[in-house]
Amino acid sequence: MNPASFLDVDDLDHAALERVLDRAIAWKADPSGVQPALSGRAGAALFEKPSTRTRVSFETAVATLGGHPVSLRGDEVGFGTRETPADIARTLAGYCAVIAARVFDHAVLDEMAAAVEERRVPVVNLLSDATHPCQALADLMTMKEHWGSLEGRRVAYVGDGNNVAASLTVGAAMTGIEVVLSSPSGYELDDHVIARARNLGGIVDQEQDPHEAVRGVDAVYTDVWTSMGQEEESAARRAAFGAYQVDDQLMDAVGGKSLFLHCLPAHRGEEVTASVLDGPQSVVWQQAENRMHAARSLLVELVTAQQEGG
Ligand code: CP
Ligand code: NVA
Repeated sequence: MNPASFLDVDDLDHAALERVLDRAIAWKADPSGVQPALSGRAGAALFEKPSTRTRVSFETAVATLGGHPVSLRGDEVGFGTRETPADIARTLAGYCAVIAARVFDHAVLDEMAAAVEERRVPVVNLLSDATHPCQALADLMTMKEHWGSLEGRRVAYVGDGNNVAASLTVGAAMTGIEVVLSSPSGYELDDHVIARARNLGGIVDQEQDPHEAVRGVDAVYTDVWTSMGQEEESAARRAAFGAYQVDDQLMDAVGGKSLFLHCLPAHRGEEVTASVLDGPQSVVWQQAENRMHAARSLLVELVTAQQEGG
């Protein structure tokens, strides 16, 4: 493994995660504090799947740190067809201070990170089938902005036990947030992710009934029922997830004031109703904006560690 990389939230230790969140919040409030940590350097981002938030937030983060962002679609570099991902990473490491990628198969990120380990160039996960840690940083940042402190808060994740749920659960465990997962049978978060979160000291509960799951929580989180790459399963998934829509009734079942979070893109009328997504409890646009602040703070953390490591 490449120790400089960021493939899931727990690639940062607790202190580094806290620094990343606090710096992101501070620089959002006062952008005059932003340091040109990538001055004269480049950051590359490769995309095997579509992206709006991740691509633009990464590019903006690199640019506002004084660096030059280069985004590449998988098909334009022949990712895995014209050249192996490892060889592409080796090449990019000659030009770039950081290499980021959104891939179908998480193992590809491991291959890329291993290929550039000796050069200590960080590889950043911009979403894989398994995890979405840059999203989790923005989610934690958003909740911290609202609550001041994360310790002891409780978040219900309702829906597919997917990449977003995995990184959220690990990030929550590291910051003292309790998580209750509510998914239909067969779509639960992998046991090994739950075990990892518990090993990090996290409290992770599972409650199949979403109305029970949300009772008393501080935030309700959901994501799409069909992730990128699963399109052929969408009819079966719509049928399986019908009872897991986040609607006004489910938000009422919280029995108090809670936030609503969604990584976006959202499908109004599927995993969430328009009334909730566009309603007063929703913080989804703040989450989306925070992708840039979180990414920028992460990049500073990674390149600083890279420089200190020699
Ligand atoms: N939330 C998120 O990752 O959005 P994009 O897929 O648009 O990058
Ligand atoms: N779970 C979704 C997240 C998109 C940001 C997907 O992988 O498509």
